[in-house]
Amino acid sequence: MGKSNNRKGTPKRIGILTAGGDCPGINAAIRGVGKTAIVKYGMTVVGISDGYAGLIHKEYRELTESDLSGILTLGGTILGTSREKPFKGKKKDEFRKPLLIREHYEQMGLDCLVCIGGNGTMKTANMLSEEGLNVVGVPKTIDNDIWGTDMTFGFDSAVNIATEAIDRLHSTANSHKRIMVIEIMGHNAGWLALYSGMAGGGDVILIPEIPHDEKVVMNYLRKRADNNKPYSIVVVAEGIKIPEGEDSPARYLARRIEEETGLETRETVLGYIQRGGSPSPMDRVLASRFGAAAANLIAKNDFGRMVALRNGEISSVKLSEVGGKTKLVGSDDPMVRQAMEMGTSFGV
Ligand code: F6P
Repeated sequence: MGKSNNRKGTPKRIGILTAGGDCPGINAAIRGVGKTAIVKYGMTVVGISDGYAGLIHKEYRELTESDLSGILTLGGTILGTSREKPFKGKKKDEFRKPLLIREHYEQMGLDCLVCIGGNGTMKTANMLSEEGLNVVGVPKTIDNDIWGTDMTFGFDSAVNIATEAIDRLHSTANSHKRIMVIEIMGHNAGWLALYSGMAGGGDVILIPEIPHDEKVVMNYLRKRADNNKPYSIVVVAEGIKIPEGEDSPARYLARRIEEETGLETRETVLGYIQRGGSPSPMDRVLASRFGAAAANLIAKNDFGRMVALRNGEISSVKLSEVGGKTKLVGSDDPMVRQAMEMGTSFGV
């Protein structure tokens, strides 16, 4: 255990929860918050199970410094997660769940709550803050779509995984002279498809923010084949628009490309591999820095904020400014422009 060194003289008992889809780096963030809270400030740390569900069902355990050792490189979350949205439920739950949360927060003797999560988690964190709880948010997601921070942890690891997958498709596409369509996660935001598509040299990158014209994509692929390019790589985000009744953009597009161009085409849906496993070194560092920054905010009684990365510096923004917003790729994003200038097609 770290030695007690509470500078304000006010003992603090902090609760940590992880909510929403998991991603690499969450354990590094838990460790960052917990170790800083214990070692630097002499606080007590409580781990709440399965996101907001743990607060509703009062499931938690105390975390000692030794509980936080050996988890830096672990994927997933040692606390478990859920997509429980306490403010969104059946009529009778709408008031019951937030009331239970407040009641259990008091009973658990918490002075504040650290909510590690994505957009949905930050929205709930802000609502709890407006209800009078002391809340600090820590942004995580492979989608990198949280408003108010230049980067979320989880994103770099996912870009590495998706890029490696695209790299591997190049050699098999070349051998068979095929078109390869790869589907990357991202329902609303195309950051992951854009970054991995650029890093992996995708010939076509389709993202939800830039509506594409199928005809443009077909013409582009035909032209590449006519110009003796033996194969093409098409990177698509899972959230691009496809006709109703179709279940996967990659499957749909691969079929359409073959029908329209006569070029042999295959699809790969990368799926949850993008979210699993050990965080990249960059994510370990960012998650640790975010975690430490959250503990520092708590020590200053500076609540209702989300830690953030802005212009390379760790800072924080009001949760009320973050909640309910999504950071999307702009059609005038410099990366999109640069890729277009290099001949990459966005189907427009
Ligand atoms: O964590 C974000 C995300 O990975 C999205 O890109 C994806 O669409 C979603 O989660 C799917 O997660 P689940 O199936 O767990 O809801």
